[in-house]
Amino acid sequence: MSPRLSPASFPRPKILFNCLTYGVAAGISFFTVSAAHTIPPLARDVNELRAQLPSGKLALVPTMGALHEGHLSLVRRARAIAEAVAVSVYVNPLQFAPHEDFAEYPRDLEGDRKKLAGIADVVFAPPDGLMYPQKQTATIALPPLAGEMCGASRPGFFEGVVTVVCKLFNLVHPDVAVFGKKDWQQAHLVGLAARQLNFPVAMEVCNIAREPDGLALSSRNKYLTPAERNRAPLLHALLQTAAAEIQNGKPPEDIRDNAINQLREAGFAPDYWELRDAETLTPAPPPGVPAVLLAAATLGKTRLLDNAELRMPPQ
Ligand code: PAJ
Repeated sequence: MSPRLSPASFPRPKILFNCLTYGVAAGISFFTVSAAHTIPPLARDVNELRAQLPSGKLALVPTMGALHEGHLSLVRRARAIAEAVAVSVYVNPLQFAPHEDFAEYPRDLEGDRKKLAGIADVVFAPPDGLMYPQKQTATIALPPLAGEMCGASRPGFFEGVVTVVCKLFNLVHPDVAVFGKKDWQQAHLVGLAARQLNFPVAMEVCNIAREPDGLALSSRNKYLTPAERNRAPLLHALLQTAAAEIQNGKPPEDIRDNAINQLREAGFAPDYWELRDAETLTPAPPPGVPAVLLAAATLGKTRLLDNAELRMPPQ
């Protein structure tokens, strides 16, 4: 079998083409194939997945598809830190409550594969029968944090997320998994579970990709009407201002009340606005430590989620 080598297997000049090079007969002859626009193959099961993966350090980017630039920034990061890159696309029923948008959640597997051309080696889109061969009764108990913030308004959500991510880790065996800070609480709880359950997977957590007006990219932004889309960046703007003010010593409670009022006046239904220790996600971060301001609010039928990092002022 000829070795499968990914573009990242080679040291290469940054501005030149991504090339797949197959050496034949120890350098007597060889040819190169441009991988810059190669649409990654689809794997539906573990055998198909393994057959498509180059050897070397493997990065997995778990997603629910409907890929946007935020997802792609994670995949590019994966490409930079690993020799093999798998992107999973699976809309996980276990993390949706019955009244939530599982049925309407945008699905575009072919479009997703095209967007991944040249940056992923394989798209892993497992069928439900592989992910949930039976009704899922084995669960992972999570700490009380899983019932706070996003977990308070979405009971069982993080159990569903952590369960599916652990299943993906067991199927794919990645060396590193890449997540986004956009879902800070999710990345925290997945990292915690992976560590405590001894998964040999390193976590890489990447910055939030945004629209030019500051709105965090999200697959759910598609639900916004044009009028809502115009108002949506307010959440990020308030978080940014608040983070700077807290850093400058203004009382977080006053800022919170003001932000919640402004969101309400603009037609948002605020869900939560929380100042937490960035490392532990516990409330009331002590002076001088890195902190994160996390917020969620619904606009029309779209739930928007965002956060801003800061450092607590010294005492
Ligand atoms: P999904 O919402 O598709 O997000 C997949 C990954 O992309 C997550 O790690 C998320 O934090 C990251 N992401 C989303 N928007 C981003 C943005 N604007 N900038 C940077 N990263 C962004 O999160 C899930 O899927 C699911 O819960 C999953 C982990 C796949 C489990 O089902």
